[in-house]
Amino acid sequence: MFEFLATQPQLQCLGVHAHIGSQIFELNPHTDLGGVMAQWLITAQRYGFTLTELDVGGGLGIRYTESDDPPSIETWVKTVCDSVVAACEAQHIPLPRLLCEPGRSLIGPACVTAYRVGSQKEVPGIRTYAAVDGGMSDNPRPITYQSVYRALVANRMSAPLAETITLAGKHCESGDILIKDAPLPALRTDDVITIAATGAYNYSMASNYNRVPRPAAVLVKDGEAHLIIRRETLQDLLRQDCLPETLSRPLEST
Ligand SMILES: Cc1ncc(COP(=O)(O)O)c(C=O)c1O
Repeated sequence: MFEFLATQPQLQCLGVHAHIGSQIFELNPHTDLGGVMAQWLITAQRYGFTLTELDVGGGLGIRYTESDDPPSIETWVKTVCDSVVAACEAQHIPLPRLLCEPGRSLIGPACVTAYRVGSQKEVPGIRTYAAVDGGMSDNPRPITYQSVYRALVANRMSAPLAETITLAGKHCESGDILIKDAPLPALRTDDVITIAATGAYNYSMASNYNRVPRPAAVLVKDGEAHLIIRRETLQDLLRQDCLPETLSRPLEST
């Protein structure tokens, strides 16, 4: 890569960038990163580039359920900084400007998704399903890679847990299950279920699967609610639709 860049005087080479993965709970990969990236800075020097920037990407995991125990952001930052400083000192190279791009760990825990409970269906000896008014189009993570979440009943937070209930989405797919066998109080129609830690990779991966409109997003700060994304309408869904001219002429003229 640097060999090619050295032949391109019109390109300015500022630094190197890494992104080692996502939802990472171990610190070791981040500890190793400084050493790996320092080697790239040294290789760049051999081709005449003095790189001043090092971007370590993101990847810090978050807590979706009680069994998730990620390091804190502070620990992650310290680990990455220590690793880069130690590697640069060991290689006798100047410290680059350090950049990072955490995504999930910043925005993921900041959001919850609220669903309204519709009908319920008990399959004796198997499980009880509760249908909610969302699912795989607003949260494609469970159907895509079997992500696990926890749910609460927002309008009756202190109701005791009574059963396990499988929360099914509205998309007419057998895989459209938001949470399988979630421990919950007995649900009532119109209860509001909240699923936590849905700020990252939900809206960005949301779709109009089966032409379901995407929901609104509301920012809550100091007890006040502000709409930050309006709910999609049927008009929004049809915005890109068009007819060939021959089909859009009035019938009498054909
Ligand atoms: C290049 C790059 N930087 C940063 C991120 C953010 O990662 P995370 O949300 O795991 O912190 C991603 C996500 O895939 C990425 O591709």
